Amino acid sequence: MQRTIEIAPSILASDFSKLGAECVELGAAGADRLHWDVMDGVFVPNLTIGPDVIAACRPHSELPFEAHLMVVDPDQLVPRYIEAGCSTVMVHVEACIHLHRSLSRIRDLGARSGVALNPHTPAEMISHVLEVVDQVLVMSVNPGFGGQSYIAAVEPKIVEIKTMIDTGGHDIDIEVDGGIGAGTIAAATAAGVNVFVSGSALFECAEGRAKAIAEFRRLAAAAR
Ligand code: DX5
Ligand code: ZN
Repeated sequence: MQRTIEIAPSILASDFSKLGAECVELGAAGADRLHWDVMDGVFVPNLTIGPDVIAACRPHSELPFEAHLMVVDPDQLVPRYIEAGCSTVMVHVEACIHLHRSLSRIRDLGARSGVALNPHTPAEMISHVLEVVDQVLVMSVNPGFGGQSYIAAVEPKIVEIKTMIDTGGHDIDIEVDGGIGAGTIAAATAAGVNVFVSGSALFECAEGRAKAIAEFRRLAAAAR
């Protein structure tokens, strides 16, 4: 059975002076979930969103919130982001010494578990943790900033991950993050992605966010 196509706007590209209103607008525009990029200034050279900011926005939206933790010590922060209202929390394989434990704990705390891979990280790194994973996040840029160019070299890795998931009979979303827009979404879909993070391309679409989301959804559906 084909998984549902979902569009996840990256809040990193929104207007930080009015985050609550941005959440409302993205819901009205047809977003399926909201993607919160959490950066600690160490794992990546940028500093962004703490759990209190997300908690303050939570009453403004009924969409699922997902936290993408780009931090060196995710285990310490996971409970804070779940308490803030994130129903999915993603940790980077490169940041977790005991990855199976970190992912299991996210589930134990009541959230969906996600594992993120940097562009250079091979698919095999997650082959033995899929039993405790609800979502795989394939980075198609080097994390840290919005507005970077899509790295098409990750597509064979997406194919590998999709094969691993299908072969094992796992119930796991594949999400792609970085440089996703009208020019790249079809190739990512063809490789096996069903959830698409989009920042700059979605927010800067001249015809507006609702049009961008509808168009991305159409292009993804057509590429299957
Ligand atoms: C990069 C972040 C992405 C980013 C996506 O570190 O994880 O979520 O905001 O933005 P675009 O779509 O502009 O690449
Ligand atoms: Zn992200």
